[in-house]
Amino acid sequence: MDDGSVQVQVLSHPMVRARLTSLRDAETDTPAFRTLLAQLTTMLMYEALAGIDVDETTVRTPIGPCTGVRIAQPPLLVPVLRAGLGMLDAAMTLLPEAQIGFVGVARDEATARPNEYLVSLPRELAGRTVFVLDPMLATAGSMCHTLDVLARHGADDVTAVCVVGAPQGVAALQASPHRLRLVIGGIDDGLNEDSYIVPGLGDAGDRLFGPR
Ligand code: URA
Repeated sequence: MDDGSVQVQVLSHPMVRARLTSLRDAETDTPAFRTLLAQLTTMLMYEALAGIDVDETTVRTPIGPCTGVRIAQPPLLVPVLRAGLGMLDAAMTLLPEAQIGFVGVARDEATARPNEYLVSLPRELAGRTVFVLDPMLATAGSMCHTLDVLARHGADDVTAVCVVGAPQGVAALQASPHRLRLVIGGIDDGLNEDSYIVPGLGDAGDRLFGPR
């Protein structure tokens, strides 16, 4: 991966595709949507964590000593508010040792541009493994904004974990100066005139938390 490059990994596992299909379904209600998003997050994070650094350790089984591994350094999870919150619980369950930061970005509905209202991150992120959680990669405005904020904190090992994206969002990441990995459940056809992903799943924040 060179500076400014994006390594894209689209998960084609049948379980991911099946859960994503149910998540998209307009008949899926909020409780089911939350559960499906949590299940997808577990699968996406499992893949995203495949290259995580580990240290060797030894435990004693009831039979005797056994060499194994433990996560070398607790990663930082950064849900992008609001919809990223729907991924946080599952990611924390998988990775209880993780630290949590927050970036709050609201989409300006008139311009579809990101409007930052919260940044709560450790001051120094150089050398830390960071996972950004945001289910939707539409224009990538929120994601690029979050990557800018993380870069200002020195982050140099960032993985974006998304459920569904548009080709325009991937292209925007590729055109950004950021070097990252993108683990995603699917890349759809495009965006409509309101910058919603087509076919997508609608407004993820509204489906998780109710309409504003
Ligand atoms: N955000 C969403 O929640 N849905 C989209 O389709 C695009 C951005």
